[in-house]
Amino acid sequence: MATNPIPQFPAGFLWGVSTSAHQIEGAADRREPSVWDAFTAEPGRVKDGSTAAVACDHYHRHREDVTLLAGLGVDAYRFSISWPRVNSPGGLGFYDRLVDELCAVGVRPVPTLFHWDLPLAVHERGGWRERDTAARFAEYVSAVAGRLGDRVTKWITLNEPAEHTLLGHALGIHAPGERLLFDALPVAHHQLLAHGLAVRALRAAGAADIGIANSHGPTWPASREPADVEAAEFYDVLLNRLFCDPLLLGHYPEGIGELLPGGPADIEADLEVIAEPLDWYGINYYAPVRVGAPTGTEIELGGLTLPAGLPFSLRQIKGCPVTDFGWPVVPEGLTELLTGFRRRYADRLPPVVITENGCSYEGLDDQDRIAYLDGHLRALHRAVAAGVDVRGYFVWSLLDNFEWAEGYARRFGLVHVDHATQQRTPKASYAWFRDVLRAQR
Ligand code: FCB
Repeated sequence: MATNPIPQFPAGFLWGVSTSAHQIEGAADRREPSVWDAFTAEPGRVKDGSTAAVACDHYHRHREDVTLLAGLGVDAYRFSISWPRVNSPGGLGFYDRLVDELCAVGVRPVPTLFHWDLPLAVHERGGWRERDTAARFAEYVSAVAGRLGDRVTKWITLNEPAEHTLLGHALGIHAPGERLLFDALPVAHHQLLAHGLAVRALRAAGAADIGIANSHGPTWPASREPADVEAAEFYDVLLNRLFCDPLLLGHYPEGIGELLPGGPADIEADLEVIAEPLDWYGINYYAPVRVGAPTGTEIELGGLTLPAGLPFSLRQIKGCPVTDFGWPVVPEGLTELLTGFRRRYADRLPPVVITENGCSYEGLDDQDRIAYLDGHLRALHRAVAAGVDVRGYFVWSLLDNFEWAEGYARRFGLVHVDHATQQRTPKASYAWFRDVLRAQR
């Protein structure tokens, strides 16, 4: 595909790709079970009935995958560390070797410390509904930092606590499959507390470059009718502000603190921990969300089933291409999101890194993916030109992998994985991204 070159990003911009442990590692027999193992074992939870017991077998094929990263020419690789694996004999040794291999080929390791795979044993003691889980998380983080901190210099605490709360605990679409609806709010708070405690633990271990990967998107009202506008503002609180205001402003959006256990008084002390200064703020961006007043009926959209009775409804965004997942392709949403964040948080917003962006499409000659990434990089550049301090961009994902409740049906990789043979085949987008990176040097 002949396109104009992507405009030049600032010097020192960090280019990478992302994965997560549960989605690629496999080797489930070499770690404790996580909530995802229990969830996928229940019939009907995953669309194609699959599990991640083998996934991309990255645990055994990591050398090949590191070679793919080196060939791509990325500066950095965002992967996640599996807490259940770290709890098992030899678990930290696996990450120790992976970090060495990455360093040997000049790819900077950027681990995420929690990407949704809570040890089942921790869940059985209450999981994220219990405050104690935040303290256990910080202990695990100290152990990891103690072992890897001499070579890992850039850290991510949590991945998308918003999705983990909403999909995993409010709607039951993801593990652990709870349907707590608004009673899931403590799950959000305890993850945020875990994040703050993890920042402290990492700093105590000498780390100086710490961020989080939060998912965000513009929330567009379905119309100018006040009921639609109000519903969209409410959704903006749930998706964007609930997980960002406490980190950057040190308080919850109005009305939320009151809904949490212990009430506002107890929350104050926690908020001081949660608002530990960050070195950078990671944003996972996929698409905007169109939100309207409640319709009183169940809604199916982009892999989500929302029950009737919620104070909002999600609507289709029309007039743009959609990915195989049905997600709308709206690159300008990224510019809007970033410039909007800068207006909202002003000098409280640290430098931003796009920690995930990508799309699911079939096929090796994935021109649709190239068009998606091309469009989003240009949109990102427009945000930079408008004055947003963006320091890096990571494509989701290096490999086709286990896409949670969708199983293996969604292919987000720059590299195709034949899930029967584990053969890796770089797609057209892999060569395209490699050439983009070369041109940026
Ligand atoms: C994000 C997740 C990631 C992947 C992409 C498609 O919400 O962080 O693991 O599933 O979506």
